[in-house]
Amino acid sequence: MNIDGLLRALESGYRDKTPKSLEIYRRAEKVMVKGGSHTLRLWQPYPFFIAGAAGAEVLDADENSYIDYWQGHYANILGHNPEVIRKELGEQIGKGALQTGFEAQPQIELAETLLHQLGLKGYKVRFTTSGTLATMYSVMLAKAHTGRECILKVGGGWHGASPYLLKGVKYHAGVGFECGESAGVSAEILKEILITRFDDGDDLARILREKGKDIACFILEPFIGVGGFLPASREYLELARRLTEEHGVVLIFDEIISGFRFCPSGVQTLYGVRPDLAAFGKLIGGGHAVSAVVGRDKIMEECEAPGPGRMKVLFEGGTFSAHSEYMTAGLIMLKHLIERAEEIYPRLGQAGERLRRGIETAFADEGIEVRCTGYGNDVVRQSSLFMVNFPLAKSGLKSPEDIWDPAVCAVRLREEALKLALLGRGVHVVHGGGAVSTAHSDDVIGRTIDAYREVAKTFKKYV
Ligand SMILES: Cc1ncc(COP(=O)(O)O)c(C=O)c1O
Repeated sequence: MNIDGLLRALESGYRDKTPKSLEIYRRAEKVMVKGGSHTLRLWQPYPFFIAGAAGAEVLDADENSYIDYWQGHYANILGHNPEVIRKELGEQIGKGALQTGFEAQPQIELAETLLHQLGLKGYKVRFTTSGTLATMYSVMLAKAHTGRECILKVGGGWHGASPYLLKGVKYHAGVGFECGESAGVSAEILKEILITRFDDGDDLARILREKGKDIACFILEPFIGVGGFLPASREYLELARRLTEEHGVVLIFDEIISGFRFCPSGVQTLYGVRPDLAAFGKLIGGGHAVSAVVGRDKIMEECEAPGPGRMKVLFEGGTFSAHSEYMTAGLIMLKHLIERAEEIYPRLGQAGERLRRGIETAFADEGIEVRCTGYGNDVVRQSSLFMVNFPLAKSGLKSPEDIWDPAVCAVRLREEALKLALLGRGVHVVHGGGAVSTAHSDDVIGRTIDAYREVAKTFKKYV
């Protein structure tokens, strides 16, 4: 495929329809690093700037509208600006929810709701303000609890940008996922981060056998996100539970994407596998900066009463921790999902399935092989996630290695060309796809598949 030629043509079409966004971007570049605050939002050649967002769609400064599957980094399970949250939250703000600095009651109900939905007893919750912080504190709690230094994580797993987890996120040719990701993280810390392959029980067993006594925790996403929207097998998670227990390793589930995405609870309840600590974020804040660490009492005690002569983990909270407005918004969101679970989750799952199948067929009709990931498995049956991959080699696309190795998948085609091509057709995606929300009606899903079909025709010209 002539990818450079394709990209040039797509870029020119994008520039034609977004002159005002370019103007705004020029202004932004002068005062902000690369013109913004989040790299994923700053695509090439420049991002559009939004003028409005409602439900499934966003409007840009040039008045182009796009069906959006990024949906607030997958946090907007009810779409942009959902009426149910705006209305009730507005009332609560009127009554004084716009405050931080004191203990307020909405956080108690949110914690109760989380524990109840997770079906957990003997666990406690502490809220913070980002997924990055929730996973970082989880790791610190595990280190303190075990007195060990090493952290085991999955290659391709993104848990946010804390120094303890900035290794093994991006695929590097010839090296795979065995790489540090950022300057500014000490070599000592990088040595303590060990990488295992997602859903590979043999590799996990080997590492725990060889290094188990030095490992404080094993952190993973049961349904991996940026690593490829792939569900772990039940056997793998059961094995992970059994082996971590045997080796005295704290098991941490990162449920920041999977929490309340597939059912009105953590995906851990579907697997029936209980971690020692779990991190939640994104949609539990109802559009606000909320994350939570949910952990066994004994481990959570490390941040308050670790025992005589031992230092506590300084998981003390920040200015905006458990902000009343955020907690209220989170509660409105979770209550809505819980009350309407029987309608919401099957519908999201069906829409996800229709999209994945429809996109594969649209490309197949043009003679281009596409394989969507995001499908569930025998445990996770209602997946609303989708990633669109262009396999180059025969592969089951079962691991982050498959998804991100340019010898296995045409990564630039997915990440760069598909993005621009779909923007040209009024659809906004990240990693070739994204997450369906309740605002994506049947009509919107149908229009999306039509857009992919048009893109397939364009791509065919460059194959
Ligand atoms: C699985 C997972 N964990 C952690 C994070 C970090 O969360 P935050 O961006 O809120 O810091 C993300 C963010 O995308 C994520 O997808």
